Amino acid sequence: MILRELMIKAQARLRAAQIENPGRDVRKLAAAALGVPSERLTLMSESAASAEQVTHFESLVSQRLARKPVARILGHREFWGRDFEISADVLDPRGDTETIVLEALKTPAKRLLDLGTGSGVLAITLLAEWPEAQAVASDISNAALAIAKKNAAAHEVAGRAEFCCSDWLDAISGQFDLIVSNPPYIAESELPGLSADVTLYDPKIALSPGKDGLAAYRKIVRDAKNHLVLGGRLIVEIGASQAIEVQKIFTQTGYLGVACRQDLGGRDRVVTAQVAN
Ligand SMILES: C[S@@+](CC[C@H](N)C(=O)[O-])C[C@H]1O[C@@H](n2cnc3c(N)ncnc32)[C@H](O)[C@@H]1O
Repeated sequence: MILRELMIKAQARLRAAQIENPGRDVRKLAAAALGVPSERLTLMSESAASAEQVTHFESLVSQRLARKPVARILGHREFWGRDFEISADVLDPRGDTETIVLEALKTPAKRLLDLGTGSGVLAITLLAEWPEAQAVASDISNAALAIAKKNAAAHEVAGRAEFCCSDWLDAISGQFDLIVSNPPYIAESELPGLSADVTLYDPKIALSPGKDGLAAYRKIVRDAKNHLVLGGRLIVEIGASQAIEVQKIFTQTGYLGVACRQDLGGRDRVVTAQVAN
């Protein structure tokens, strides 16, 4: 079958299933099925795809029709310009989380801790940006830590990273210049409103701590204070409606310079603060 026709039909099926951006998704899936960069698809569009390529493409499109996000189908996601392996055991990293990286990079750090590292995007990105830095990356999920370790090796920062299975800071020792975290923060009441792409595929433990969604902040903000050097910073991602509540948790715990930063969409996304120096 001619590639162009195959792609047009697939787009129509995704559109009928009300999947946003069907053209973009079909290009990525077609490129993966053919094993070529997506920039080559136009050049190849009048060529016939082999029976094997058609079968592979159809199986990828069926997964998208079952609402599986393209990054999960392909098993990798780009974050801060680098490619990260992902699996069913980790959150599919979101572009909005790059707001933490942007904030963190404003002040260099030598020792950093990433709580709830998932695929390792935050710890690994910061280690790659700061060649002198050392990091501890922790998660309560050993399966997630296994993916983070693979990503650290792929980005050649494994020698500067330590991985630790811990319930937030319970098993963490040592002092850090910077602690970052993108904890689960969706309130229980908001879970039914999430799209199937999220609820069917992101691990529940990565999405919500239950109840009002603030439990992880209460624990992290309280315990991080004991692991930050004087002047050290804590930077956490928040849900767009949580800025006031989370800043209050920081202020009541005695942090200084508590501030909120917005993502590229203008939504409140990160709370940053430091311990007294
Ligand atoms: C929203 S995901 C963030 C993953 C990754 N940092 C990112 O930004 O893509 C939250 C992570 O916190 C981990 N987590 C959930 N509860 C935890 C706990 N009590 N202690 C440590 N990690 C936890 C989950 O396994 C998950 O990997």
